Amino acid sequence: MASKSMDLTEKESSEELLQAQAHVWNHMFSFINSMSLRCAVQLSIPDIVHNHHQPITLSELATKLAIPKTKTACLFRLMRLLVHSGFFAIRKEGYVLTPSSRLLLKDNTMSMLPFLQPMLDPILVTPWYSMSALFQGNGLTPFEVTYGRNIWDYAGEDTDLNNNLNDAMASDARLVMSVIVRECKGVFEGLRSLVDVGGGTGTVAKTIAETFPTIKCSVFDLPHVVATLKGNENLTYIAGDMFESIPHGDAVLLKIMKGCKEAISSGEKGGNLRKVIIVDMVVDDQKVEHKFTETQLFFDMLMMTLATGRERTEKEWEMLFLESGFTHYKITPILGLRSLIEVYP
Ligand SMILES: C[S@@+](CC[C@H](N)C(=O)[O-])C[C@H]1O[C@@H](n2cnc3c(N)ncnc32)[C@H](O)[C@@H]1O
Repeated sequence: MASKSMDLTEKESSEELLQAQAHVWNHMFSFINSMSLRCAVQLSIPDIVHNHHQPITLSELATKLAIPKTKTACLFRLMRLLVHSGFFAIRKEGYVLTPSSRLLLKDNTMSMLPFLQPMLDPILVTPWYSMSALFQGNGLTPFEVTYGRNIWDYAGEDTDLNNNLNDAMASDARLVMSVIVRECKGVFEGLRSLVDVGGGTGTVAKTIAETFPTIKCSVFDLPHVVATLKGNENLTYIAGDMFESIPHGDAVLLKIMKGCKEAISSGEKGGNLRKVIIVDMVVDDQKVEHKFTETQLFFDMLMMTLATGRERTEKEWEMLFLESGFTHYKITPILGLRSLIEVYP
């Protein structure tokens, strides 16, 4: 056994061997990026840097954080990593925000904090330790193996998780909708009604109803998500299970759904359905920008581990649409990692 492994390593040059070791270490410790970011956010470092209104030195930051003097060196090391990973920059010997840390400010309407917090909370990190359960025959997701129920049922019983997940979805919806109403207004023109299936607490539908007052919007989601929410003249909340039936409308909107097919096919029976609008990823595994594809693949793994969804390549989307009885589709890739997809009966 020992001599066999020697043979393997002897095939590599020293440089290749050391590069491979660095690669393995980098992946072994990638979670340190996540945890360091979480720590900075827990300490409100982005807000402190922001509120300082000029580059903040290490000692000023340490004073604002009220940490013991002996811990300043640890703070330096944390900030050094976060500068390296692009969350802070250094100007005139002080730290400043970057566009990424600006998205982690508490009072930024586009803040991604509500998304980061539950995703890096032990509740949602623990199932990753059971990832190998995916490959057993019981059909359970790692989340189900860990908690004995799926994430939506868990959220139905746990008010904190329910609120945190709803806030996470709403924060993402605010960001993506700000781009959609700026860049893709035409998608909604001429519609009289729209149903946001799995629409959470209605951030997306509210923005559409406000931007297009002639469209009657409905938000369809599980009872524990929408039961207590009040709509208005242009916005109705409907509780139900999309796998049983979904309300009818001119258009059906789907954003990060766990199982699109059922929702799309039942939507199709709506008769007057003119199109399905999907905001989701189109995985591009040929894309040269490594981080872009890697992040899409992270989302795919997330869907597989915490829920039962997946991210699809264009070919896979096309197959899904054709199998569900749609005739054509249009992909507009203007939402960063995601695209706006319009699908027609
Ligand atoms: C990933 S979230 C997306 C929320 C929202 N569309 C957004 O992007 O902000 C998925 C939503 O689907 C809802 N959901 C899950 N299973 C459902 C079901 N069987 N019927 C209706 N909604 C469901 C969840 O409660 C959750 O709000």
